[in-house]
Parts: sequence; structure tokens; C-alpha cells
Amino acid sequence: MGNRRPLIAGNWKMFKTSEEAAATAKEIVRLVLDVKNADVLISPPFTSISLVREIIRESSVLLAAQNLHWEKEGAFTGEISPAMLVSAGCTHVIIGHSERRAYFGETDETVNKKINAAILNNLIPIFCVGESDEDRELNKTFSVLDKQVENGLKGLALTDAADIVLAYEPVWAIGTGKTATGDQAQEVHAYLRGLLEKKYGTSFADSLRILYGGSVKLNNIASLMEMPDIDGALIGGASLDPVTFSKIASFK
Ligand code: PGA
Repeated sequence: MGNRRPLIAGNWKMFKTSEEAAATAKEIVRLVLDVKNADVLISPPFTSISLVREIIRESSVLLAAQNLHWEKEGAFTGEISPAMLVSAGCTHVIIGHSERRAYFGETDETVNKKINAAILNNLIPIFCVGESDEDRELNKTFSVLDKQVENGLKGLALTDAADIVLAYEPVWAIGTGKTATGDQAQEVHAYLRGLLEKKYGTSFADSLRILYGGSVKLNNIASLMEMPDIDGALIGGASLDPVTFSKIASFK
């Protein structure tokens, strides 16, 4: 078993103005002071990243962006480069979230370019994969995940599991209130760890953090974290309230 410190990550999506983000970040810094069992990360919208960075600077809270563009710079109106995120204070970046795949044309190919660009710039990608309702009903869960992992990591010679975080987010569980049960999620996490073991070896797979995401709440975090292959959570809705989020981060 590798050393897998849990990671509790809040994805704020397109919520919170700068004022709201600042107030939430301040509360989180205060409330997670006692959280010793996990790393805590927040992912504000681009417009609040610099502001939030100043607020969390002296704390252990980590900072992620929700997307990036793979090019270094250029005429790409509306896009943000890896170096911009680093200089704004991000250490992590969410890549391939199902909302980006479903609404903004994200493909396995662009996910691959983004993961590559993130790693080259020392940003840790939180690489999201997950099957839809229909995939699951058609028994295609594992083949869909195979493809997402294979294509998303194509050409990437990863040697250090600390350079990447994998997030399993079944699309049918995101924002729906339907969580995968601990056993359902565990089955997939163990499968994903096996896939990564085949690609990068046992010690890499043993050290890789695999987060679960999809309607994680205060009332289900403990049963998810009990599972041997669940190393944390990527949390949307329940991360917006600092009190709830910090309680989830202690998962007691
Ligand atoms: P949810 O979102 O917790 O609101 O289901 C999870 C996610 O999209 O990362």
C-alpha cells in the first residue's frame, strides 16, 4: 500500500462572485484548521483565484483551477494558460470534468493535451472520468473508463503518482442526489487502480490518489472514505457552504 493521504477537494463550478468567494475562503481557512486527516483543496472560478490565494496563503488549503488551455500563449480569446494559473497561485487543475465534456466540447483528445500541458508546468491535474447512466445500464462502465483513461493519458510517461490525481465521477451521480454506494464506487476505484497498475506499475498505482465525486454529502462521506481504494472526494454542491465542506473534510 502506498502512502495515500486523503484529499478533499471542493469544486465551486460557476458559483460565487469575488466577494462571496473571499468570504467563503476565509471561513474555510478558519474551519479546517483542525482538519489533520486530509489535504483540503478548493477550486474557485478563474476570477477569484488570485484573491482566494491571498486569503489561503498562510494556511494548508490548496488551490485549483477548473480548466486550462494547453497552449503556452496566443490568440485564444477566453482561454487561460498553465503558466497563468501557476502565477495566480494554483497547484492543481481539474481536467475533463463531465460538465466540460457534455457542454463545452471537451474530448479525450483535448483532455490529453490539457493533462500533458498541466504536468509540463508542474500543475497537478485532477483528471476526471466517469460513465453515464446509459453506459452503466448497457454494462459499458468499464469499457468507457478504459477508453477515457487510455486516451486521456496517451503518450504520458508518468513515473511519480504525486504528479496526478484521478477522480471517478459517475455522470449519473453528479448534482443528482444519487450517490454511488460505497461498494459501487469501490468496485470502480479498484478497477481504475488496476488499469493504472498495468500502465505504470504497482508502486505508482499503490500511491495514486483516486477521488470519488458525485453527490458527496455529509451523510455519505464516511461510508465512502471507509473503502480501501477511495482516497478522497471531489465535491460540488456541498462544497459551497464552508461549514458543511469543513465537516466533510473531517469525514467523521
Ligand atoms: P456534486 O458535483 O457534488 O454537486 O454532485 C460533483 C462534481 O461535479 O465534481
